[in-house]
Amino acid sequence: MAANKVAYLSLLYMTLGLVLVATVSADPDLLQDVCVADLSSGVKVNGFTCKENISAEDFFFAGLAKPGLTNNTFGSLVTAANVQKIPGLNTLGVSMSRIDYAPGGLNPPHTHPRASEMVFVLEGQLDVGFITTANVLISKTIKVGETFVFPKGLVHFQKNNGQVSAAVIAAFNSQLPGTQSIAATLFAAQPPVPDHVLTKAFQVGTKEVRKIKSRFAPKK
Ligand SMILES: *[C@@H]1O[C@H](CO)[C@@H](O)[C@H](O)[C@H]1NC(C)=O
Ligand SMILES: *[C@@H]1O[C@H](CO)[C@@H](O)[C@H](O)[C@H]1NC(C)=O
Repeated sequence: MAANKVAYLSLLYMTLGLVLVATVSADPDLLQDVCVADLSSGVKVNGFTCKENISAEDFFFAGLAKPGLTNNTFGSLVTAANVQKIPGLNTLGVSMSRIDYAPGGLNPPHTHPRASEMVFVLEGQLDVGFITTANVLISKTIKVGETFVFPKGLVHFQKNNGQVSAAVIAAFNSQLPGTQSIAATLFAAQPPVPDHVLTKAFQVGTKEVRKIKSRFAPKK
């Protein structure tokens, strides 16, 4: 009887533990050594199906070696090294990016729904920050060799207020962190978010909303 009760309680605690782990963890854990993504497979699973034959190339990417071109509207460029570029990352729960910033460049406010992020400054300096769900801005200026953390799901940004280019390496605890850029999400969605939703949300008129939408419209 006592032994039964102990077994029952152990099972209960184990189940509770598993439920907690499942709700607080990021990407699910892997169930085999490797599962190199078959990016061309039509089969949809959570992540990607595994390729039959693998090689070192599946685990390799040279794309973060050189600065990305920053001659765009925001003066910044994110070069991702995620599962879409490195199929060997499938099921491993990690990825990286390189972000380059022209002087004055901004990586505009955005969130990663599936990952926390750490950045390491390669060159230059950046004003960085994230905003908590209590609307508190946590911000700091970071320089070469320094690191800053952006907690999972929170809105964050980086701005190069220096006179020279800046660059960071970013690490994520997801093979595909996902990015929702706040302004683009609201003002460039297709089909568009209705004007009446945005006028009420931002407490401005239709004219202001249409103006912002026109700035985010694809260049013709
Ligand atoms: C994998 O390699 C084996 C042995 O070389 C070959 O027979 C098979 O067709 C390959 N499979 C794919 C999907 O390329
Ligand atoms: C950015 O610079 C590259 C190389 O100098 C050029 O090919 C490209 O057209 C430029 N892009 C824009 C948007 O000006």
